[in-house]
Amino acid sequence: MNAYDPNAATGVIPDAQLLADEAQYSSFGDTVHYVDPPKIFRHGEGSWMYDTAGVPFLDLQMWYSAVNFGYSNKRLNDTLKRQIDVLPQVASQYLHQTRIELAKTIAVDAQQKFGLKGRVHFNVGGAQAVEDSLKLVRNFKNGKSLMFAFEGGYHGRTLGASSITSSYRYRRRFGHFGERAMFIPFPYPFRRPKGMTPEEYSDACVRQFERLFETEYNGVWDPKVGQAEYAAFYVEPIQGTGGYVIPPRNFFKDLK
Ligand SMILES: Cc1ncc(COP(=O)(O)O)c(C=O)c1O
Repeated sequence: MNAYDPNAATGVIPDAQLLADEAQYSSFGDTVHYVDPPKIFRHGEGSWMYDTAGVPFLDLQMWYSAVNFGYSNKRLNDTLKRQIDVLPQVASQYLHQTRIELAKTIAVDAQQKFGLKGRVHFNVGGAQAVEDSLKLVRNFKNGKSLMFAFEGGYHGRTLGASSITSSYRYRRRFGHFGERAMFIPFPYPFRRPKGMTPEEYSDACVRQFERLFETEYNGVWDPKVGQAEYAAFYVEPIQGTGGYVIPPRNFFKDLK
């Protein structure tokens, strides 16, 4: 890859100017500012991103996001261009073929994999999907608004998603979150207590959760009506932002 030459390229603004403009005009993205100065990239191919000097960087961050297609994938890019020429996204009052075809493909696949019939609702990213699911849960559970989530779990930056994201960092500036989730310990094998195997640590976390359902006196469960105070449990099979944590194999089976 050749180094980026600001004199040869037309319309390309040098890094220093971009950083100055970013500081003045862009909203302050806190993750962008993890490094100082923030890093500017010029293009990407596959899993690689290239900076202004043409230095390749292996992108390990994109894979935790909603649209993790990699870069310059000709098949996907051509499909995207064809779609925008035929008919771009239409207002929510109307339908078009591609949307229905995609919904069918996903629903049929999910039914084969999980044995559950369902419909597909589209939205634009992870946090939005979480917001929609919170509404579904509240609707289905007659307005119940308390959720379980994991310590270390991350579900997005919108208000609802922040309330079920364990780190205070994402709520610090925004006042009181009355319906914050109850955060349940997640077994992080690498940081497990001394003297325990990962599986024993997993057992201990499951038992701690189980206690909440043991009696009506100190838990979240009313056995007389067979109801829990909490409406849903938000889980990441592998924790992302919490540290790329893979729990012991027995964990989810036992938790269920
Ligand atoms: C598990 C999980 N849920 C939700 C989100 C939020 O997704 P988005 O950034 O697309 O809103 C993320 C983002 O990293 C995530 O890892």
